[in-house]
Amino acid sequence: MTAPKKLYIKTYGCQMNVYDSERMAEALGGQGYVPTDRADDADMILLNTCHIREKAAEKVYSELGRYKSLKADKPDLKIGVAGCVAQAEGEEIMRRQPLVDLVVGPQSYHRLPALEAKTRAGEKALDTDFPEDDKFEALKRRPKAARGPTAFLTVQEGCDKFCAFCVVPYTRGAEVSRPADRILTEARDLVERGVREITLLGQNVNAYHGAGAGGDWSLARLIWALNDIDGLERIRFTTSHPNDMTDDLYEVHGTCPKLMPYLHLPVQSGSDRILKRMNRSHTAESYLRCIERLRAARPDILLSGDFIVGFPEETEADFQATLDLIEAVGYGYAYTFKYSTRPGTPAAERVQVPEDVKDDRLQRLQALITRQQRAAQDAMVGQEVGVLFEKPGRLVGQMVGKSDHLHAVHVTAKGVSPGDLRQVKIVESGANSLAGVLV
Ligand code: 5AD
Ligand code: SF4
Repeated sequence: MTAPKKLYIKTYGCQMNVYDSERMAEALGGQGYVPTDRADDADMILLNTCHIREKAAEKVYSELGRYKSLKADKPDLKIGVAGCVAQAEGEEIMRRQPLVDLVVGPQSYHRLPALEAKTRAGEKALDTDFPEDDKFEALKRRPKAARGPTAFLTVQEGCDKFCAFCVVPYTRGAEVSRPADRILTEARDLVERGVREITLLGQNVNAYHGAGAGGDWSLARLIWALNDIDGLERIRFTTSHPNDMTDDLYEVHGTCPKLMPYLHLPVQSGSDRILKRMNRSHTAESYLRCIERLRAARPDILLSGDFIVGFPEETEADFQATLDLIEAVGYGYAYTFKYSTRPGTPAAERVQVPEDVKDDRLQRLQALITRQQRAAQDAMVGQEVGVLFEKPGRLVGQMVGKSDHLHAVHVTAKGVSPGDLRQVKIVESGANSLAGVLV
């Protein structure tokens, strides 16, 4: 018997890429690959790239450059680039870096086995199509491999919103929702393999409208169907757009027992003028109304958001409006970004805010967010929350997991295993985590 080939995948960017990397590993498992976490041990290296941040392509090229000596030592080593940089750059990658054997865009992963075979035949393989066939159906999960307690499950891909700063509509294409029955089959399979918490993923996950029994299913309907799966304990979803917050979603947050009290709802800016220039098609006021309705439905819901500072034409007054909005909401977490240009997007052509102004605004924004994050964490002290334990902690006898509100929690207790969901009383709030005791 020949030894299995080893696959090293390096994943950049969002949770959807994490999910895709898993599925790619499974697809190549059928070709005789087993995963390795060392590039120097691999027969195939796959970079699953992200294009959302600045200089993404440059980072990929510099990473690829590092593999030169590996390939010199092992001429059979195959090197591939997947993900959004692969989609955006295409053939240019092979031109610029002859080490690369394979380039595959996010919509073509189900064709990986054929592309891999092509590289083994000594050819270069490139696929950046947006094919009609259902990639996820073709990328069937290998059954029965055991899983940790949490999993991602992509239900929707792509985006039709065209925010003026964002490359997603270009790299991931138009919004597509997977059929509900396939998602439910995959969810049941994950639960059989030990998963207790599923996070539904999509670039615009709350715009989900997949085919299902009786017609079109909304995200809320999908969540209710997941709620019926025995053994599944927790449901989350991300990322949502304020304009797609429908009545049934507010309702599901108030009434569905397994849906966790947490929502990531990016607003990007608190200035209506900038929101308009961003092509966000909502206002600060309409966003605040979403938050009000969410809190009315689920008073303990924890909110997180994304913010961009230094978008073209942003004035100090616009930035102040963002700070005001953050004060009004009170976030549990937030992800803060300096605007950076993406070639091909409308905002890239506009007059840019100077770098030092962006830096200054980012610092002030982060200071406010850190205060809010800390306050949200401190407010948990004395409360009882559910914690899904995932793994041993740093100290002997410690176990760590995530609370219902997605805070990292550690306890020191006997008889707790990964996958256990227990009630925990929070006793202390640290820099980045909470300490608790079993109830
Ligand atoms: N510059 C800065 N931040 C960006 N994001 C997306 N595109 C850009 C860009 N060009 C941020 C947005 C989005 C998050 C995933 O990344 O805040 O919500
Ligand atoms: Fe990008 Fe806007 Fe679509 Fe989100 S909603 S993926 S920020 S274009």
